[in-house]
Amino acid sequence: MTTVSEFIYRKAGLKGPRPDSNMPSSTTTQYRLSFGRFDEIFLEKSWHWLRDPEIKRLTMSRDFTREEQLDWFARLPERTDYLIWSLSCDGIPIGALGLKNITRNEAEYWGYIGDRSYWDTGLGGEMMSFIFNRAKKMGLNELYLKVHRDNARAIRLYTRVGFKTVSEDKDVFNLRRSLREAKGDDSAAFSVKRYTPDRKKEWDTFLNAAKNATFLFCRDYMDYHRDRFADHSLMVFRGEKLVALLPANRGADGTLVSHEGLTYGGLVVSRPATLHEVLACFHACLRHLHEQKISRLRYKRMPGFYNTLPDDEVAYALFLLEARLYRRDCAVVVPQADRLPFQERRKRQIKKAGLFNVRIVQEKDYSAFWERVLAPRLAARHGVRPVHSVKEITLLASRFPENIKQFSAYCGDEIVAGTTIYETPGVAHAQYIAGTPRGQEIGALDYLFGWLIDECYKGKRYFDLGICNEKEGRALNQGLQDWKEGFGGRCYTHDFYEVATANYSKLESVLPSAPAKS
Ligand SMILES: CC(C)(COP(=O)(O)OP(=O)(O)OC[C@H]1O[C@@H](n2cnc3c(N)ncnc32)[C@H](O)[C@@H]1OP(=O)(O)O)[C@@H](O)C(=O)NCCC(=O)NCCS
Repeated sequence: MTTVSEFIYRKAGLKGPRPDSNMPSSTTTQYRLSFGRFDEIFLEKSWHWLRDPEIKRLTMSRDFTREEQLDWFARLPERTDYLIWSLSCDGIPIGALGLKNITRNEAEYWGYIGDRSYWDTGLGGEMMSFIFNRAKKMGLNELYLKVHRDNARAIRLYTRVGFKTVSEDKDVFNLRRSLREAKGDDSAAFSVKRYTPDRKKEWDTFLNAAKNATFLFCRDYMDYHRDRFADHSLMVFRGEKLVALLPANRGADGTLVSHEGLTYGGLVVSRPATLHEVLACFHACLRHLHEQKISRLRYKRMPGFYNTLPDDEVAYALFLLEARLYRRDCAVVVPQADRLPFQERRKRQIKKAGLFNVRIVQEKDYSAFWERVLAPRLAARHGVRPVHSVKEITLLASRFPENIKQFSAYCGDEIVAGTTIYETPGVAHAQYIAGTPRGQEIGALDYLFGWLIDECYKGKRYFDLGICNEKEGRALNQGLQDWKEGFGGRCYTHDFYEVATANYSKLESVLPSAPAKS
């Protein structure tokens, strides 16, 4: 047996092995513990150890046949993501430990003392020291493990050596520990927690300091439709500090979607966040999802014109992850500082509306537009209803009066067109646009948009007329596109990606790595 690490173990009193074991039973014992090759002797031993019902339960081992075990053993030499060591005490085989799912950055620890007479002897701590040294030599930055919630002894040990619970499934706690030396907050590990309502204040406060958040991510906005979209938002921490948010829900097929009920989603990060930090946050989210057995993430990127600072860090991550671009919509956006003139057709329509004395009203009551213009128009043209009911939009507008506004065009007492504007510091976005047949005929919609772009929102960086696609981005509604481009808007894409969460390790080649330590 190749001895990898040896030490003399001394421990007094009650924590020694049972008197009936083959170990000395004096109050001060000396054990020579060694870690070596996992050979046929240990293979045979482990067959019996893992059939002990208590060890099987504690280690959460699955049933396996002798044949399967031999097959597993035969394949060990060729595996690059798996390492195993035997554990002996004074030459007596007592257990095994190892690392699995090894990537460039991290690995999953597992280990057990199969000979029960050696439990509670302090050997667990030595097993951990050995594995930490090994993992650091391999250049790993983090170790993680799974432990059954009833395994109090193991939980006590892991907590003592610095593992922290990052998430939990039904019976299993997921623990993590950074292998980096403590150098203040900078070296702290990233961990991910699911959003819970008691964290609302923390969530909303973070949005205020983010470079790529809008009011759509405020909990008071997101939670209005929690009955329709099962919330599964994530919060990323570095040490104790909140560093990113992922607004998300679980789709009907179990996929995580960021976000199905919002115009866009995406990882929200702070203004000073660097490329490395954003990559590490996204990595932590994907790893967390993978651990939670959520195999797919659908990610609707927030269009770039909403940001207050450059924000393509996740775009780079999506490239490394080989994410699939499954949908791309074309939004028509007017850059107010440098826009093209309105087309002649639009100008003629605006003039026409003036002859009909069309007037614009900003109104608090959404029902006229919803019931007399929007809903009938959507039903007649596309056979659909507005995403929000009038009750919902009224509720949202009451929660966000500075952000959600209704502008309607009237001819006499008749409402003939309207738009619901979602306003953020840099962007006015037309969330809903509709006109009655008469409103279109007399140019009321053109008049309304001409005024919004030229007057009302001339101080914004962008006026976003919204997308003009159908069939999940595969088709363009030509008429709609012409009309929107007629106001001087041009295309910004709105991208939808699908990511296999198991690919998270593909980001590790660009994550900052800790120097290997012996
Ligand atoms: C888990 C295991 C490796 C720990 O090794 P060990 O030598 O028994 O543990 P240690 O003596 O180093 O530490 C165990 C700690 O748990 C404490 N402990 C023991 N029984 C406990 C119990 N029922 N409840 C709470 N704590 C308990 C011990 O007091 C000790 O803590 P302390 O050092 O702070 O006093 C070993 O017990 C084992 O292999 N168990 C069976 C298989 C298993 O559970 N593997 C882990 C799967 S995740």
